[in-house]
Amino acid sequence: MTLNRAVAVGCGHYLPERVVENAEFEKSLETSDEWIRTRTGIERRHFAADGEKTSDLATKAALAALEDAGLTGHDIDAIVLATATPDQTFPSTATRVQHAIGMEKGFAFDVAAVCAGFIYALGMANSLIASGQAHRVLVIGAETFSRIMDWSDRSTCVLFGDGAGALVLESRPGNGDKNDRGILSTDLNSDGRYNDLLYVDGGVSSTQSAGVLRMQGQEVFKHAVVKLAESGETAMAKAGITADEIDWIVPHQANLRIITRTAHKMGVPMTRVVVTVQDHGNTSAASIPLALSVARARGQIKDGDMLLMEAIGGGLAWGAATMRW
Ligand code: ACO
Repeated sequence: MTLNRAVAVGCGHYLPERVVENAEFEKSLETSDEWIRTRTGIERRHFAADGEKTSDLATKAALAALEDAGLTGHDIDAIVLATATPDQTFPSTATRVQHAIGMEKGFAFDVAAVCAGFIYALGMANSLIASGQAHRVLVIGAETFSRIMDWSDRSTCVLFGDGAGALVLESRPGNGDKNDRGILSTDLNSDGRYNDLLYVDGGVSSTQSAGVLRMQGQEVFKHAVVKLAESGETAMAKAGITADEIDWIVPHQANLRIITRTAHKMGVPMTRVVVTVQDHGNTSAASIPLALSVARARGQIKDGDMLLMEAIGGGLAWGAATMRW
């Protein structure tokens, strides 16, 4: 059966210039480089400059992805942008990017699923392409989490960073089996009973302010390993593949211990896992497209490779996707 597959034809990323090493937090908090490294795997992260907005990072990542694909904004029908740190309450950050890349047709919208945002955005883009509503979709994850940190809370402010990554998906005919290139399966989940484990304590209709991030780290950790492995296995089953067929897991980069335990649970060795958390920290919705772009640049992900992407975050919201590059 011939169907429309959403095939990756380009990717790119952007990281703000300012790099903050773990040791910088030792000046203002009772913490240490050693604690942060051993508990999280994080060594450094990037923070946006004053006035640098999520849409600025997203636009630079989008332009890099378009260049990689040999395309311009005119060639794109839709932008799906995942973020929990939009420039403004409205309009969407996606429409700001649409304007900045010179895209004057089609449509653009934001997706809010926090750290799982990129997987949700991929799911939406895949549906748009599969149903014939769009031919080429720019999927972006972009965040400025440095804007919602409580800098006196050492259990959260050392974990996050800013950045953006983008992927261009193009409709190509496929046979409907696991040998096709493109997105082969997605698995999306959420459970609002866990809102209180990870949230921002402000918002338009509650406090009329942006608020700061609050998290019960250990609880999130426990849910993360179980739910990510389950969702990863569901996505593989939907695609008709097994763990030994995965060339690369490209996980949400929150914590090296979560990444390691989840891969172990799914039976995939760490030699087949893309890890960037040491250099980026947790960039929420940006972490997977950033990791994809870095892994392509490193020469890790090659044409034809089978990928499993998985992520979890506030909501709780989580999911996984399989894709042959
Ligand atoms: N430096 C030094 N000590 C710290 C720090 C810090 N930065 N942060 C916390 N501590 C202390 C705590 O106060 C506590 O001290 P106490 O025993 O005197 O009370 C001690 O370290 C242990 O704290 P725990 O919270 O038990 O530490 P844990 O080993 O669980 O590590 C962490 C904390 C890293 C947050 C971990 O729980 C985690 O990674 N959770 C996953 C959450 C996550 O990554 N969320 C990101 C968003 S969701 C997602 O993307 C998956």
